[in-house]
Amino acid sequence: MDIKLIGKSPKIREVLRLISRVAPLGVQVLISGETGTGKGLAARIIHQLSPRKDKPFVTVQCGAIPDTLIESALFGHEKGAFTGASTRSKGFFEEAHKGTLLLDEIGDSSMAFQTALLHVLQEEEFCKIGSTRPTKVDVRIVAATNKDLRKGVSLGTFRQDLFFRLNVVEIKMPPLRDRDDDCMLIAEHFLHFFNQKYKKKLTGLSKEVKKIFMQYHWPGNVRELIHVVERAVIVEQSSLITPASLPPQLLEINQEIDNQNEDSMQFHLPLFDKPLKNAKREFEKKYLEGLLRRVNGNVSMAANLSGLRRQNLYLKIQQYEIDLDQFRKKK
Ligand SMILES: Nc1ncnc2c1ncn2[C@@H]1O[C@H](COP(=O)(O)OP(=O)(O)OP(=O)(O)O)[C@@H](O)[C@H]1O
Ligand SMILES: [Mg+2]
Repeated sequence: MDIKLIGKSPKIREVLRLISRVAPLGVQVLISGETGTGKGLAARIIHQLSPRKDKPFVTVQCGAIPDTLIESALFGHEKGAFTGASTRSKGFFEEAHKGTLLLDEIGDSSMAFQTALLHVLQEEEFCKIGSTRPTKVDVRIVAATNKDLRKGVSLGTFRQDLFFRLNVVEIKMPPLRDRDDDCMLIAEHFLHFFNQKYKKKLTGLSKEVKKIFMQYHWPGNVRELIHVVERAVIVEQSSLITPASLPPQLLEINQEIDNQNEDSMQFHLPLFDKPLKNAKREFEKKYLEGLLRRVNGNVSMAANLSGLRRQNLYLKIQQYEIDLDQFRKKK
């Protein structure tokens, strides 16, 4: 697939501007943003636009390495360094020598990982397991996270010194819902892509689908949009993508749009017959249910959108006896 960030919205233009400015310089970059917003893609583009483009681009899933294997994964080991080390192995840093190392999901890394990482970033060298000779490497670091690292720092789960080191320049990937009609451009791009892949001849999106795409909250961002388009290209029978080939979570939005248009007053009027206290409670419950439906029961996301603290939101969910499972997608 192409290594290209599609979009013309002011927010994505700003991201592209920043990328093209920092990429050639070799500075450390922290890319933050919700899941599926293109953090991995942005990291690749930074590598492509840098003088290191012909050297390796290596990704480490920082949260996925058990503490006992961190040193060996990052720095490698010499032959015979420990039982089972039958050959010399390169670690991620050595693999990425002269190239770019993407520290992916850095917000999920353990304290032990953070400590090992900080050490190599400060010293610009490390010792492989089983060796006393330091190895020097030249690696450009790009880190990505969908967690708020500042929050991690204040909660004590993320080292502040490491945060400052990684966060020389921060690039914030905007959520798809904030990118005007970029979702149309991306949808059309992938419509052509999947047309070719599945030998179909769809020509575009129906009016209704465009409306749904603009209203939908896209909790999974661009990744979700690509999956929706792929599915639609496969199942659609007509020459346009119609609502019939959209997955259920998008059709619920459609239902909400219809309801809002047709009988919004019916929902609001009975509220006026109640004392303010009861009406407020009823409104709050409906608001929370609507919100949770939008984000498929993802409490963190609902907390973010509503401006409530997560814990507070949980309390309210309990108080109103809202069943979260009904909003979560069935596997
Ligand atoms: N603006 C864009 N134009 C075209 N494709 C995009 C765009 N943004 C993201 N994509 C594609 O969407 C998919 C998800 O992007 P990516 O994996 O970079 O997201 P991410 O932010 O790293 O997500 P996660 O936090 O889940 O790791 C990838 O296939 C990527 O190529
Ligand atoms: Mg990613």
